[in-house]
Amino acid sequence: MLLLEIPVVQELIAKITLKNFYLRLCAYLIEDFSNWDNFQKSARHAIYVRNGVLELMPICNDEFYSFKYVNGHPNNPLSNKLNVVAFGMLADVITGYPLMLSSMTLLTALRTAATAALASRYLAKKTSKHLAILGCGAQSEFQVLAHAALFELTTVTYFDIDPDAMLRFAHNLKDEAFTLMPVDNVQAAIMGADIIVTATAAKEKLHILERSWLTAGQHICGIGGDAPGKTELDPEILKHAKVVVEYLPQTLKEGEIQNLGLDAASFVYAELWEVLSGLKAGRENGDEITVFDSVGFALEDFSILRLCYQLASEYRLGKQIDLIPQTLADCKNLYGLLRNTHENTRDA
Ligand SMILES: NC(=O)c1ccc[n+]([C@@H]2O[C@H](COP(=O)([O-])OP(=O)(O)OC[C@H]3O[C@@H](n4cnc5c(N)ncnc54)[C@H](O)[C@@H]3O)[C@@H](O)[C@H]2O)c1
Repeated sequence: MLLLEIPVVQELIAKITLKNFYLRLCAYLIEDFSNWDNFQKSARHAIYVRNGVLELMPICNDEFYSFKYVNGHPNNPLSNKLNVVAFGMLADVITGYPLMLSSMTLLTALRTAATAALASRYLAKKTSKHLAILGCGAQSEFQVLAHAALFELTTVTYFDIDPDAMLRFAHNLKDEAFTLMPVDNVQAAIMGADIIVTATAAKEKLHILERSWLTAGQHICGIGGDAPGKTELDPEILKHAKVVVEYLPQTLKEGEIQNLGLDAASFVYAELWEVLSGLKAGRENGDEITVFDSVGFALEDFSILRLCYQLASEYRLGKQIDLIPQTLADCKNLYGLLRNTHENTRDA
């Protein structure tokens, strides 16, 4: 069984470059989302605790099973801890044997960003050049760079209530090809933007964006509203936009649409797989306002684990670990693993 620790994840990406990693991941996401009916799916298992949420996200098709453990603790950065950390596993469905255990903190940011950028490719204007991002925390650079891999961005406007977050964001992206424009409020950030990413973190129902501030043709990637009681958008936006979600049963509880009452589902245009597989049109004109109401779905973790497993084998990276008995001479003699230990210590 393979172990991918953080340095290995970094090395895998260095082997093919971040841009190519995003492009390969997008291809895996399209393939997996297009095979939607072949997956056994469920809304994630979430336990809500005082400061946040602890989640398990399993999924499988007839080849692989994967799960991820992930948290969300919006106050963690106050004690210099990440809001979101994660690890996950990929297993062989035929035998049930685990194949790979991986750190997934970076992978969660990468897959969230790749999925958002892919949704933007279908829902935003093809000619989008200006991206606005609200919230310059841990996910922010990943979101911008994933969009830069799929769009010819020329301008990125950004705003955070924390000036240090804005400085860090600017420093991390200072060598990219687009122009970075800091602003001091949301309305200035979104003025003229083609794509608006909301990536704030607060355990509250906020209106980071008001409907009256939007202009025709804008696309919103709402990634920060991802738990009950934790949303970012004025619900009026959703009632008048083309809204796409990942997996409706999960998004009804966790997404922006939780604020739309009992007939929330009637405001949803499509699940993402329907758009990615061509079953439903994405953007149909230059005027419509579109929203990707992202909460993060297990299929995205499945795709990135599958990609990392492939890359680890291509580049012979990762460490073999003895987490399960792989090499028993007699598979019925499990006790043989303990017999010597027991005999040597029985009378001690
Ligand atoms: N949809 C998904 O799949 C997915 C995946 C990962 C994280 N998330 C969510 O994305 C959000 C961002 O995650 P992160 O890891 O970057 O968190 P983070 O805590 O590192 O960053 C959040 C940033 O938002 C800023 N902020 C808070 N309120 C704001 C406001 N009103 N206006 C502007 N900025 C504001 C904070 O100052 C902070 O810099 C979280 O809510 C997280 O749960 C979603």
